[in-house]
Amino acid sequence: MTKVILITGASSGLGKAAASFLLAKNFRVLGTSRNPDKYALVEGLELLPFDLNRPETANELVERVMEKTGRIDVLINNAGAGITGPVEEIELSAMHSHVSTNFFGPLALIQKVLPVMREQKSGLIINVTSIGGYMGLPYRGLYSASKGALNMVSEALRMEVKRFGIDVVTLAPGDFATDIAERRIYSPLKKDSPYHDPYQHSLDTLNDHVTQGKDPLDFAKMVFKIITLHKRKVHYKSGSFLQKISLLLKRVLPDIVFEKMLMNHYKV
Ligand SMILES: NC(=O)c1ccc[n+]([C@@H]2O[C@H](COP(=O)([O-])OP(=O)(O)OC[C@H]3O[C@@H](n4cnc5c(N)ncnc54)[C@H](OP(=O)(O)O)[C@@H]3O)[C@@H](O)[C@H]2O)c1
Repeated sequence: MTKVILITGASSGLGKAAASFLLAKNFRVLGTSRNPDKYALVEGLELLPFDLNRPETANELVERVMEKTGRIDVLINNAGAGITGPVEEIELSAMHSHVSTNFFGPLALIQKVLPVMREQKSGLIINVTSIGGYMGLPYRGLYSASKGALNMVSEALRMEVKRFGIDVVTLAPGDFATDIAERRIYSPLKKDSPYHDPYQHSLDTLNDHVTQGKDPLDFAKMVFKIITLHKRKVHYKSGSFLQKISLLLKRVLPDIVFEKMLMNHYKV
């Protein structure tokens, strides 16, 4: 039977690349966007409306997918957004909104998809996190926190749903050349902010990383590999050698040494 794959945030970047790749591998793929009509169709890919900040749209989405396909074999929680700013100065409302987008939004969808997967007695959920979710990055604390939280809840969830034949994994991208930098929320600094220079340095480094980032096709291939594996790991990473090695360094180096490395790297 052809597997049905639902991928959120398929209008752009990593989600779009993964959707095209999976379509070419003959899966039935449905994607989502907040504004499906705005985007030219990737051939064969249907975009359905879904907004991470409006949990009620999760229900409507799952109903529409079930009407069309009758099952959901794989949910890829890919949609997400970035936010930057000094923790001291990001408006609390922006913090709430960001965590809704990157954490509560995917969870709202998972809650609607799980009954379908339990009924099927099978399913796979891939939560797209970030290498930045394994460490607190300066001026990206909220982003690191939202992705780190998604990582943690995925670990818990996988133990809860294993008994129903459902697998949950995370996939943490490093830097990929997508539109994420343009869509990111750059929290405005307060007048006379003491963070101005280091924040700017960190943004310059960050945006260089994204522009020089890897081809989203590598991410798509990793998604395909995870879907087709019989035995899966809990966490996957897709990024440059340097980004992956940073996770190893974080594990083995004293915290204070790792922190110094990050501060030098981001020039803060
Ligand atoms: N690119 C990287 O270097 C990188 C690194 C680490 C992690 N990631 C993660 O990878 C995922 C994909 O990122 P990307 O680089 O492909 O970014 P992107 O090009 O900006 O695409 C983001 C996708 O998410 C959707 N989206 C954004 N906000 C949404 C919301 N509130 N509700 C519903 N959908 C929303 C967008 O769809 P619409 O605007 O059409 O609704 C779009 O399809 C994200 O979770 C991101 O955090 C990316």
